Amino acid sequence: ASLADMPEGVPASHRVQDRTAVPEPAPREGFRNTPDSDPAIAANRAWAAEIVARMATSRRGAETIAAHTVSDEAVLDQRIRAAAAAAAAWRDLGADARAEILHRAGDVLEARRAELVEVMGAECGKVVEQSDPEVSEAIDFAHYYAEHARHLDRVDGARFTPVGVTVVTPPWNFPVAIPAGSTLAALAAGSAVVIKPAALAERSGAVMVEALWEAGVPRDVLTLVQVSENDLGRQLLTHPAVERVVLTGAYETAELFRSFRPDLPLLAETSGKNAVIVTPSADLDLAAKDVALSAFGHAGQKCSAASLVVLVGSVATSRRFRDQLVDAVTSLEVGMPWDDAARVGPLIEPAQGKLLRALTTLEPGQRWVVEPRRLDEDGRLWRPGIREGVQPGSEFHRTEYFGPVLGIMTAETLDEAIEIVNAIEYGLTSGLHALDEAEIERWLSRIEAGNVYVNRGTTGAIVQRQPFGGWKKSAVGAGTKAGGPHYLFGFGTWTDAES
Ligand code: SER
Repeated sequence: ASLADMPEGVPASHRVQDRTAVPEPAPREGFRNTPDSDPAIAANRAWAAEIVARMATSRRGAETIAAHTVSDEAVLDQRIRAAAAAAAAWRDLGADARAEILHRAGDVLEARRAELVEVMGAECGKVVEQSDPEVSEAIDFAHYYAEHARHLDRVDGARFTPVGVTVVTPPWNFPVAIPAGSTLAALAAGSAVVIKPAALAERSGAVMVEALWEAGVPRDVLTLVQVSENDLGRQLLTHPAVERVVLTGAYETAELFRSFRPDLPLLAETSGKNAVIVTPSADLDLAAKDVALSAFGHAGQKCSAASLVVLVGSVATSRRFRDQLVDAVTSLEVGMPWDDAARVGPLIEPAQGKLLRALTTLEPGQRWVVEPRRLDEDGRLWRPGIREGVQPGSEFHRTEYFGPVLGIMTAETLDEAIEIVNAIEYGLTSGLHALDEAEIERWLSRIEAGNVYVNRGTTGAIVQRQPFGGWKKSAVGAGTKAGGPHYLFGFGTWTDAES
């Protein structure tokens, strides 16, 4: 097999570079997704209530971060060199032994679910409904990549050699699942990891790292650093021992990283501006619910969030869907995660810049269907807003805001709607609500997005079932899909076994 054997239509950004042979992806058996804590069970509600009661004052993770904050170039250099020195032994341990440690990591993450939910609420404002599935996803990554690592060792005729040191720079919006996923993938492949949690989510990242250490990942194989200063961040990325950098963040951040080092070996999942198309054949009740939760779960602070809904034909011209959507959205309680009823939590920071503008001003021809309303003093809590009259080519059509504001667009036909969505330079997630098979086929064959969802929300990709990663400006570098069968390939190179 070779690169030419990748399925047709796989964009360049999904192709793994740096190797001559592409073995079959890992098999699917032996892995089951971890269930979330079902709130229909009374014991789970009591469990959640106890966590919520601790959230407002929780300092979990603070000590670990204090102990791993680096403010000195020489210390950072020494940490990265120590990781590089530890890498060979980790690689030589072999995939089976690494897989055992990773499976144990999955078990420890499960055992520490309550702590993880607590710190995500305390530090990042995640409500339990949003953070509990994130722990499940982190556990899934552990078990899934563990099995894939075994597969890497057993490919006939090809040998996989992992890179030495991978730097992981995760975002704050999924403060456990994304750092865990990137870290566990690199570790499974046999690379050492230096992780720098996002400044706004450093404690959540630290508790996740503690769990992996507890499971038996050696401390120099998984190095936690918190650098507060830009120069140290640059030193981390440009250090000669660093062979891969995993970034999940804004497209502009990927460009900044590349400006530090043009040949930076980056695996980056970047911005999104995601739309859901609703056609007249749709189950409108389901569509209204899915759009509301995709747009406003975690206050819209997800690269996968729906930011636009494109109404087709009679869905656009009648009031019915708009009214349902307004009902769904205005019924969402907004509050801090320790307010029991809250389903939409706070922004990570007070709204500012383009997000504040999107929450407070309209472009010509637009109108508020639901006007966003600031609910607290400092501007972190907002009643979500919906605007209509968003025109193709307008700022709202093109811009990622990462907050609780949704735009309605209209189209006469499905084809016109697809054109509107494909005109966006990003291509991360995309949704279609339609029951007509021909419409579904047409949309699937034309839509330009990495994750395409039919009659389902656009957020919350499930490991293995919905490998996650984008097209166009939503992916930079040798991106493959996280939680998918090719992801580990990004952390090493293949050679023919004979050579
Ligand atoms: N994987 C997340 C989702 O699907 C986004 O990073 O929502």
